[in-house]
Amino acid sequence: MDKSEFSPAKETSSGYRGYSEDSNLAEIHPELANKYHDISYIASGAQGTVLCALDDYGKKVAIKVLDIQSVESFKDIELFEREIETLRNLSVPGVPAFIETIRTDRYMYLVEEYISALSLDKYISSGKRFLFGDILIILRKTARILQTIESGIPPIIHRDIKPANILVSDDMSVWLVDFGVVASKRQKSFATTFAGTAGYLAPEQLYGKVTPAADIFSLGMTMIHLVTSVSPCEMEMDDLDLKFEKYIPENVPNWFCELLKKMIDPSPKKRIQNGNELIQVLDFGIKCDPNLKHVFENAESACSQDRGKSEQGRGGLVSESGSQDAHLSKKVSGKYKVFLVILIFTITLSFTRFVGRLGLFLVPMVALGIYLIVRSKKSGG
Ligand SMILES: Nc1ncnc2c1ncn2[C@@H]1O[C@H](COP(=O)(O)OP(=O)(O)O)[C@@H](O)[C@H]1O
Ligand SMILES: [Mg+2]
Repeated sequence: MDKSEFSPAKETSSGYRGYSEDSNLAEIHPELANKYHDISYIASGAQGTVLCALDDYGKKVAIKVLDIQSVESFKDIELFEREIETLRNLSVPGVPAFIETIRTDRYMYLVEEYISALSLDKYISSGKRFLFGDILIILRKTARILQTIESGIPPIIHRDIKPANILVSDDMSVWLVDFGVVASKRQKSFATTFAGTAGYLAPEQLYGKVTPAADIFSLGMTMIHLVTSVSPCEMEMDDLDLKFEKYIPENVPNWFCELLKKMIDPSPKKRIQNGNELIQVLDFGIKCDPNLKHVFENAESACSQDRGKSEQGRGGLVSESGSQDAHLSKKVSGKYKVFLVILIFTITLSFTRFVGRLGLFLVPMVALGIYLIVRSKKSGG
């Protein structure tokens, strides 16, 4: 069993992973200080410490640090190497961009794009309750990131989706971090590596069986935690079924509870299979819910902010379904126009029998007049 998966963040009484609050990070990490300045802490996770610093251009970077001397097994180094390789080859919206790696005898550093956002576990522990509409946005955007990574070459399964690994910014941009235990065809050993975090882990992961459905399970558990503010670990189980319904707030519609159930089905075959399917089921639920008009509006503004920063992966609830609607209405109005032209042609022909050639001019002009009036009324609101 891989030890790092279940071990909590290693905070010590003197600070994170042995650093004290007034430790001079530039002295501890001189090789890092050669290239980056204003080094400070961000967090300490299962795999190491995360620092931030400024580069020569004043751009903030995040730096994941692995202290080779304090790892408990060689596996930790292997997982860190795996994260480096995954990020190096993964350039998708919603995943921090790889910048570089630095190695010394003592430390391995992974320098990546700094994300100005908080992890969901920090939001939860601070007592923040997201609006249901915001939860839908977070779920939709995370599903989109999963869809992107699982359909990439090679396909990637994250395997450690949990609140600490999903970052959400004030403008509701969503990021997935911590690719240390991903499964990808690039890594030959993934099938035998046990990975995940208790409470969020899909049952089949215990047997090293990973498909994208395992990420859906963990995302479902994460959403249950977010919606209820209760950790899935603290909820009762009936056999393998998590009894989460009684914690769900009243404003959360039934269809969403059903969706969560489909995400955390203990049987991987009965579960929602992947990010793509999740997006479809979620969009269907939202579209059919008469109370969710405001969600679409909120999402639209959130997504337009996203679009400025990146084009793919952070598409929102509305951007796709809205454009689908526009496409549909174009199709319908196209058919409608053809029908109208045939109708006017027929009326003109029959009119010419009574009023002579004048009808040829009169009827199309009247039809055009009506069309222009209707159009100007429509565009005027
Ligand atoms: N690129 C980043 N930008 C900003 N904060 C980050 C970044 N990567 C990680 N973090 C912060 O550090 C925490 C731990 O990072 P993570 O990659 O999950 O490390 P670990 O493998 O040790 O769990 C995250 O929960 C997040 O708060
Ligand atoms: Mg983590």
